[in-house]
Amino acid sequence: MALKITVIGTGYLGATHAAAMAELGFEVLALDVVPEKIELLSSGRVPMYEPGLEELLRKHVAGIEGSTGRLRFTLEWAEVADFGDVHFVCVNTPQKHGEYACDMSYVDAAVESLAARLTRPALVVGKSTVPVGSAERLAARIAELAPAGPEVTLAWNPEFLREGYAVQDTLHPDRIVIGVNGPRAEEAERTLRQVYATPIAEGSPFVVTDFPTAELVKTSANSFLATKISFINAMAEVCEAAGGDVAKLAEALGHDDRIGRKFLRAGIGFGGGCLPKDIRAFMARAGELGADQALTFLREVDSINMRRRGHMVELAREAVGGDSSFLGKRVAVLGATFKPDSDDVRDSPALNVAGQIHLQGGQVTVYDPKGMANARRLFPTLGYADSALEAVRGADVVLHLTEWREFRELDPAALGAAASRRLILDGRNALDPARWREAGWTYRAMGRPNA
Ligand code: UDX
Repeated sequence: MALKITVIGTGYLGATHAAAMAELGFEVLALDVVPEKIELLSSGRVPMYEPGLEELLRKHVAGIEGSTGRLRFTLEWAEVADFGDVHFVCVNTPQKHGEYACDMSYVDAAVESLAARLTRPALVVGKSTVPVGSAERLAARIAELAPAGPEVTLAWNPEFLREGYAVQDTLHPDRIVIGVNGPRAEEAERTLRQVYATPIAEGSPFVVTDFPTAELVKTSANSFLATKISFINAMAEVCEAAGGDVAKLAEALGHDDRIGRKFLRAGIGFGGGCLPKDIRAFMARAGELGADQALTFLREVDSINMRRRGHMVELAREAVGGDSSFLGKRVAVLGATFKPDSDDVRDSPALNVAGQIHLQGGQVTVYDPKGMANARRLFPTLGYADSALEAVRGADVVLHLTEWREFRELDPAALGAAASRRLILDGRNALDPARWREAGWTYRAMGRPNA
């Protein structure tokens, strides 16, 4: 009989995973504790901007004309416990207030609510990013709570999806990692091979390991990516001091296939809901385990990254000639989201820079293709414009802070006619300097010589 799947938590990870499981042919029931989310998703709409997700959802959500009807949503734990052979836990693990550690309360609550109702054999699969050691603790908790006792097993299956590519990354993962243990480890592995049969057949590597290693794959992958970005940003600082060009440096480094060219784009650094909080939670956990020395370098990775934001503010201040403040200066900010193809402004370097300049007296006008509503909610006191051209009108300086394609395709001449001064700072090293300079702009970027 075909496996029945439930997904607990319908944020980025859960909503995408649920739709992807339906696409792979399974009957799926997804739960969230927020009624508005369930209502929205049940009508085939997604509470965030993620390319391709709404289409995939509408293809499968029950009750939508022409859909397969394989995907349903609920608020009821009992329904989920009764329905599923495999339960994916996809709730979030945010950073705790005032601490580096991550907040496990949603994961704990989800596992407890589910386990207490499991009266039949089931596999519970953790997908959330958690501190190493959580799976073992949760397995013990499930054993305590589940009425079906040893017939309920836990596996850990970290998720590596990137925002903006969530659908693609979920349907065609570059690897599938599972952590299993205990007497039912082989059975759990067999079940997950069944769940992922399609991507495995397409060639996705399937890595089977123990709990701690599976948990660590996720946090160490994110730490590596963060380190790579901070490495090139540190090189950008050195390039600025030495008169070098970090973009050329990255290009040359990238030809060494041991290094590779990806994640070597210098600029205002990384943000978002994952990398910053994951490296901090990883440091906190290593401290608890007595291995804090092993990860002290991540503190440096974090501070190089945070320095980038302040550096951009300084470059902007210099550019407008303000000695101590931005008073009376008009600053156009292109980009509010932490990366393109997303509407996510969580810990966004772009919005952080815009906010700092505003607090120092600058008149900031922000434009972003998809992030306006979220940015307005977070920073209601900033100015907002409906287009890049409107944001730039009358500006003393233009800051390019999120590398949307729309910004690469702007017409520098048209923008030049609207701006008060033709001065652009590229915080993402993503615009073509020659195009802007030809149209009479002074183009400056981080870690590159001024022409
Ligand atoms: C990340 C991981 O990539 C993903 O595997 C994990 O599951 C979740 O965290 P995501 O947060 O969607 O995904 O963003 P990612 O594409 O990794 O970018 C993170 C940040 O780094 C963005 O702010 C981006 O602008 C920045 N970045 C990326 C750089 O500054 N330079 C680069 O070269 C690449």
